[in-house]
Amino acid sequence: MTRALGVCYYPEHWDESLWAEDARRMADLGLSWVRIGEFAWSRLEPSPGRLTFDWLDRAFDVLGGAGLKVVLGTPTATPPRWLVDRMPDMLPVDREGNPRKFGSRRHYDFSHSGYREECRRIVRTLAERYGRHPALGAWQTDNEYACHDTTLSYSDSARRAFREWLAQRYQSPEAMNRAHGNVFWSMEVSDWAEVDLPNLTVTEANPALSLAFRRFASDMVVEFNRVQVEEIRRQSAAPILHNYMGRITDFDHFAVGADLDAASWDSYPIGFLSDRLENTPERKARFLRQGDPDNQAFHHDLYRAVGGYGPGGGGPSAGRWWVMEQQPGPVNWAPWNPAPLPGMVRLWTWEAFAHGAEVVSYFRWRQFPQAQEQMHAGLLRPDSAPAPAFHEAGEVARELESMSSIDPVQAPVALVFDYESAWAWDVQPQGRDFDAFRLAFSAYRAFRRAGLSVDILPPDTADLSGYKVVLAPGLMRLREPFRAALAAFDGIALLGPRTDTKTADLAIRVPLGPDLPGCDTSVTLAESLPPGAEVWLEDGSRFVHWFEHLEGTAPATLRTANGRPALVGQGPVRYLAGWPDDPSFDRILRALCAEAGVPTLDLPDGLRVRDTARHRFVFNYAPEPQKWHGATIPPAGVHWEER
Ligand code: GAL
Repeated sequence: MTRALGVCYYPEHWDESLWAEDARRMADLGLSWVRIGEFAWSRLEPSPGRLTFDWLDRAFDVLGGAGLKVVLGTPTATPPRWLVDRMPDMLPVDREGNPRKFGSRRHYDFSHSGYREECRRIVRTLAERYGRHPALGAWQTDNEYACHDTTLSYSDSARRAFREWLAQRYQSPEAMNRAHGNVFWSMEVSDWAEVDLPNLTVTEANPALSLAFRRFASDMVVEFNRVQVEEIRRQSAAPILHNYMGRITDFDHFAVGADLDAASWDSYPIGFLSDRLENTPERKARFLRQGDPDNQAFHHDLYRAVGGYGPGGGGPSAGRWWVMEQQPGPVNWAPWNPAPLPGMVRLWTWEAFAHGAEVVSYFRWRQFPQAQEQMHAGLLRPDSAPAPAFHEAGEVARELESMSSIDPVQAPVALVFDYESAWAWDVQPQGRDFDAFRLAFSAYRAFRRAGLSVDILPPDTADLSGYKVVLAPGLMRLREPFRAALAAFDGIALLGPRTDTKTADLAIRVPLGPDLPGCDTSVTLAESLPPGAEVWLEDGSRFVHWFEHLEGTAPATLRTANGRPALVGQGPVRYLAGWPDDPSFDRILRALCAEAGVPTLDLPDGLRVRDTARHRFVFNYAPEPQKWHGATIPPAGVHWEER
């Protein structure tokens, strides 16, 4: 598989006299892809029905003429002012009931049928015009669904659509009352018109209704995206992608991915470290200019699985995916925005390739001296001189020329990741810091600290063959295909905490869950633990955040200091009764790996390893040099060797 570089470009931001030189410099640098168009609606249709595509025609010609392949973004994340004025009720409404205004981006409600039709129209027009253009290489739908907290909207149109959605799912208000337990607090309704959105209630709304609303909101994103995919496919055979984000669980990415040819995501390692990840102040300081050593890898593996879920297939090990936006220097949006350590842009790029990315595309070509992102670096400075990332991108382009093919291989271990569980635990955390992403990420990190390459699996995975250790923490329920896969599994699967303890309507399972093949255990009581509190285990490990009391015949192989089961089961399926802290996760996973015959490594802090079919890649995220088999890898260094 060939790997390539690209860049995000906004021809509409620059005088046309610059385009040809820009295109030439991109090609000379070794870039082969250029993404354009995703925010350009006001220039494509300045007033209703007045289409002004001539500039985009010329941009296609100039970029294509330089040998670049174009990714055309649909402009639906930025509806123009006139469109909002025509249908003001398309604006999303926040939880407090306030409409969000025009003047930035993503000011639309996914459920608004009028807006969907406007999107259909503009996407159809673009697809008709550029769908078979020789320079067109791929499509991107919209931009970063869910960004700026836009999946959930409490608008009139959401209310109408939610009622219809509930009617479809439950058939009658009585059935919904039963499924949700609405007898509690006299919440029963007798007509769909009596159902309201789960915001602005005096205290929390029924968690079953809140979870239904999360499912509904996710379905709205899927439907919104599907409209665009349908229109594009009619006119174009080019692959269709969307650029997802990091740590966004607001909609089911697998469900959106099922309609797309490949996944992509936008990787901002330094912005994430300061803004979106739990880390101690010491770790934030240590990785300030490199980003969290596992965050990029986690999302690469996740989006490889999302890409593998689409019609192109490939599965979790070999799904098609890109980095659509790669951080090139300081961003503008995190609380603090330091510059990357020299070499990090190269490291991030190689790491993406090692995880299977087809394309890594830098955001953006030239820093735009105006508007919201004027402080956001690009490959070029605002004065068109090269910024530091320019040279690092060029270095990777040269290295790629002599690199033999980088083919993925199934990882020995896997982690199941489930969006629905993220909604469930968001609706009902039961302890302030219970977060599904955080739990899954802490399990992932333990695998990585042991030097393992990881596949991430969707929750309806039906086949676990080839894996030796599988983790499935925090899945609210087991999907039947996965339960069957567990029953046939010949490695070791560790489930829990909180796995398979709820019904689809977020009620406690009775008989008490989990219901696991070959592992008789059930959760009789769950406790959440505030920061600083813990449950000690007999081997010196400890649980934090969460601990469950278990009963059943599955033998305990690890107990708490006062004798309660902490880890039960001795066969292929086992259950973990709490959330281990990092050293405890390390101990538990390494023991499982040893039993399952998976070799692990003792890596210095900040060194990370990723295996492909042919190579072992080693990345140094640490701010100091690290030793690897006698070699010294400098900070931000990348090393690879044949396996
Ligand atoms: C992304 C977004 C881009 C740009 C970038 C800045 O979230 O897709 O349009 O805003 O962040 O870092």
